[in-house]
Amino acid sequence: MEKKLRIGIIGTGGIANAHMKAYQKLPNVEIVAGADIVPGKARAFLDSYGLTEAKAFDNHKDLLELELDGVSVCTYNTQHAPCVIDALDKGVHVLCEKPMSVTLEEAVEMRRAELRSGKILTIGFQPRFGENMKLIKNIVSGGELGKVYYVQTGGGRRRGIPGRTFIEKKTAGVGVLADIGCYGLDMALNTIGYPKPLTVSAVTFDYFGKDPKYMGEKDAARFDVDDFAGAFIRLEGGITIDFRMSWAMHMDYMGDTMFLGTDAGLKVESPGKDGLWGGAWDGDVGPMTLFHDVGGKCVQTAIPSVAPKDEDKFFLKIKSFVDAIVNGGEAPIPTSQIIYNQAIIDGIRRSAELGKEVDIVIPEI
Ligand SMILES: NC(=O)c1ccc[n+]([C@@H]2O[C@H](COP(=O)([O-])OP(=O)(O)OC[C@H]3O[C@@H](n4cnc5c(N)ncnc54)[C@H](O)[C@@H]3O)[C@@H](O)[C@H]2O)c1
Repeated sequence: MEKKLRIGIIGTGGIANAHMKAYQKLPNVEIVAGADIVPGKARAFLDSYGLTEAKAFDNHKDLLELELDGVSVCTYNTQHAPCVIDALDKGVHVLCEKPMSVTLEEAVEMRRAELRSGKILTIGFQPRFGENMKLIKNIVSGGELGKVYYVQTGGGRRRGIPGRTFIEKKTAGVGVLADIGCYGLDMALNTIGYPKPLTVSAVTFDYFGKDPKYMGEKDAARFDVDDFAGAFIRLEGGITIDFRMSWAMHMDYMGDTMFLGTDAGLKVESPGKDGLWGGAWDGDVGPMTLFHDVGGKCVQTAIPSVAPKDEDKFFLKIKSFVDAIVNGGEAPIPTSQIIYNQAIIDGIRRSAELGKEVDIVIPEI
């Protein structure tokens, strides 16, 4: 019989449930442990899945003393870097939830730890596993648009500030910019082959998060991150990204995702833009249209959606990690790319603080 992979989960809050459910669908995986700094939380989490034999810890370092093949790091953002680095230094493969980290410095240290360990570090961007997302990438990378020079990306919610550990610097580090902004950036950057970012000019706001009218007294008093971010990003190769992302606003949505090329343009409309929680950022997409010329005439071609109704991108993300461990493969969502995503988030934060354009400098790794 095939040996089961021994997997642990660090941080047993909300998203850990999605990890657990996906792992439990895989016959070659055994969840052997969980850790959470809230005493008793990991035990209750494991028990709720009938895993009474699995070990529970209130410290990730104790969990890492076990013999493990891999861990999911599902802590809030400020704890991604320490947990990931400790796991890699113990020789364990890691799937880290998005965003990669809070700062670029942390992301650099995580990548260094990955390289010195020789283990896999993959970052949890499940939208990449969507068939429509793959189609968008294939259209653009196949050269259909010619040279791409401008991308508009982002999305947003009319009302959708998550609360909990997402709204304080000490746990989240960054607000909407990192929470769902990282998805908008990944959608754009992955489609165009992740060119290196050079500069960014950005603004961030917090008008809704800090207002008791929208958040309630208690959460408004805690709120110290951004709830809106807008940026103009210059990339290597003469490409620019116009980015916007919002957790709350007096608007239905923040515009569609657009790729402008010298031969054609691709518009990907936001899904769910009529609701309070819409936006083209989580892997679902609305109608897709190619704008091009035929016989000297301007025409528009509707691109049929290809995603099956039962597509489970989250399961595919977990499976890709497990498959990479089993097959000795590469990280499915490599940090060599996501470090650029994190560098842009870092640049947006710095630019907004300074009120001017900043350079993005990624240290030698
Ligand atoms: N991919 C997705 O669709 C998706 C969705 C939601 C959240 N996330 C990401 O997952 C992460 C967690 O989000 P959440 O909603 O589960 O948050 P959460 O606050 O519900 O859970 C985080 C848990 O981590 C624990 N924790 C913090 N530091 C720890 C440490 N050093 N060791 C062990 N446990 C620790 C906390 O006590 C908490 O229980 C975030 O980074 C978020 O961006 C991803």
